[in-house]
Amino acid sequence: MTFKVPRGTQDILPEQSAKWQKVEETIRHLCHTYRYEEIRTPMFESTELFQRGVGDTTDIVQKEMYTFTDRGNRSLTLRPEGTAGAVRAYVEHKLYGLPDQPVKLSYIGPMFRYERQQAGRYRQFVQFGVEAIGSKDPAIDAEVISLAMNVYRTVGLTDLKLVINSLGDKEVREAHRTALINHFEPHIHEFCSDCQNRLEKNPLRILDCKVDRENPLMETAPSLTDFLNEESATYFEKVKHYLDLLGIEYEVDPNLVRGLDYYNHTAFEIMSTSKGFGSITTLCGGGRYHGLVQEVGGPDMAGIGFAMSIERLLLALEAEGKELETDSALEVFIVSMDDAAKEKAVELASTFRAKGIATEIDYASRKMKAQMKAADRQGAKWVLVLGEQELADNAAAVKNMETGTQEKVPFHDLVNYLQTH
Ligand code: HAM
Repeated sequence: MTFKVPRGTQDILPEQSAKWQKVEETIRHLCHTYRYEEIRTPMFESTELFQRGVGDTTDIVQKEMYTFTDRGNRSLTLRPEGTAGAVRAYVEHKLYGLPDQPVKLSYIGPMFRYERQQAGRYRQFVQFGVEAIGSKDPAIDAEVISLAMNVYRTVGLTDLKLVINSLGDKEVREAHRTALINHFEPHIHEFCSDCQNRLEKNPLRILDCKVDRENPLMETAPSLTDFLNEESATYFEKVKHYLDLLGIEYEVDPNLVRGLDYYNHTAFEIMSTSKGFGSITTLCGGGRYHGLVQEVGGPDMAGIGFAMSIERLLLALEAEGKELETDSALEVFIVSMDDAAKEKAVELASTFRAKGIATEIDYASRKMKAQMKAADRQGAKWVLVLGEQELADNAAAVKNMETGTQEKVPFHDLVNYLQTH
């Protein structure tokens, strides 16, 4: 019997995880400078939270959730995204009562969607996301977008495109909804059964359909932009103004609708424009939500946020041929030539590690030459050689692997030597 990782999931082996850590470090640092503090919410929530939050008619809720009944007969769902959980926590812990609003939250963690596996699309993936809840200031929209862009730029990506749109407010969406129904209804039999169901429930979702993408009615569908009322249009203008102020380039795409129901006003996506990137080019998606906090039982507070998967960020780096500088470097490898030297090696390794010096020794009883090769493979900066003579002299032969020079250093002086050379 052999086992493989479940479809749509992957093992992150050490060589890869060094890159993950580097990305996570960059993210943590940027979140610190932008003041988005970490929130950790459970990996599963009540199913109803996502039905209400993400929206009953979305693909995520209809087709992609990992839902199960626990032993207490509760319906639970592995979180498909992080916004609903963060907003639930904001309401449950009454964070809306804190004096400083908006409350700015960030998270990094696995999300689960039962999707068709392909490059850049997994069933378990890690999202980094932020949510700024409790402000209707368009400047925060620009801040959130600028944080996302900054993450990509800091890791070295350059082939990026920011696309924005305004989905308007409730009134706008109602008017648009009616127009969409009038547009699609006479030809709805040409569409898939999902779209037929969407017509009355949520016609905006039709524009998002992967099956009927090529239908000419998609192109001619009424655009939300034409329905924007003055308040929504002014809000959008202000967001664009702040983006200009920050020197962030963007494209306005009136067809950008996003796949989740909670959005209104600002919606945005960041794409990779790298030629090497596969067919799924969206790296990051986000937007503003005004009804969600109330939907999960809180007061009338508005939020905005985004999420990006680390997997797609790493794929984009690969597509652009950019290497992340990782710091997994080994400083010292101690080569021991006999049992007595091995004991000294164990002792020295412990001393070095206590001083923060990354140290490795041989655990495979290899010959000296094989140990030297291992040190080289692992990229050691220094190799210490310990044999009968070195033990007698109370000094190790220290070889600098970059320059090839070798020196004999007394045991008691080793830490100082390694730290200062
Ligand atoms: P979303 O557009 O569903 O939005 O997902 C955001 C990002 O998560 C995508 O742009 C992509 O990077 C990543 N992603 C989604 N599905 C997959 C997958 N199957 N495999 C790999 N990566 C994936 C949300 O999740 C919203 N909660 C974003 C948000 C936060 N809006 C406001 N606040």
